[in-house]
Amino acid sequence: MKIVNYPHPSLRYPAVPVTHIDARLQTFAREMYDLMFEHRGLGLAAPQVGIPFQMIVLNLSGDPEKKDTVEAFLSSVFINPTILDRKGTIEDEEGCLSFPGLYQKVRRAKNVRVQAYNLKGEALEITANDLPSRAWQHEIDHLHGVLFIDKMGPVGKLASRTALKDFERDYAKAQEKGEIPADTEILKELAALAATA
Ligand code: CO
Repeated sequence: MKIVNYPHPSLRYPAVPVTHIDARLQTFAREMYDLMFEHRGLGLAAPQVGIPFQMIVLNLSGDPEKKDTVEAFLSSVFINPTILDRKGTIEDEEGCLSFPGLYQKVRRAKNVRVQAYNLKGEALEITANDLPSRAWQHEIDHLHGVLFIDKMGPVGKLASRTALKDFERDYAKAQEKGEIPADTEILKELAALAATA
């Protein structure tokens, strides 16, 4: 498993709701959890690793010491998350593991109330403020093919143009070299995987 960079089609592919929690899903979650820490991310969504399922991992404890406990893992995985309620707005710097090195200001709701399921299939309701609220919104956007570049203001979009062109050029080069399959092939694989959620 590895993190795909923009403009990989998985990032725009709408993720399907998870309908059953099995060993495969738990393995995906564990690998995503480890990747998130490896890359020092605050969160990671399944489409960022080429899996079109509605699942995210979040690292909101800020305590890497606790990373390896089962409790830390289980409390970091969220299935089929949806935002129930948003309040206020706040603008702050944001980045994404699928856009390494790109940071821009993005306006988000200051507070969110979220509903999700954990890996045990238990329903959760979570209230988050400020940075955790931002992380929830960013990761849930990923499940709908929405990226932080879509949420930037006009200044941020303009300032990101060169970086995006560079990502697009690197991606095209990797495809030319055969390191990444053709988009049509990737889309076929995504559809096949989505049918097994
Ligand atoms: Co992201």
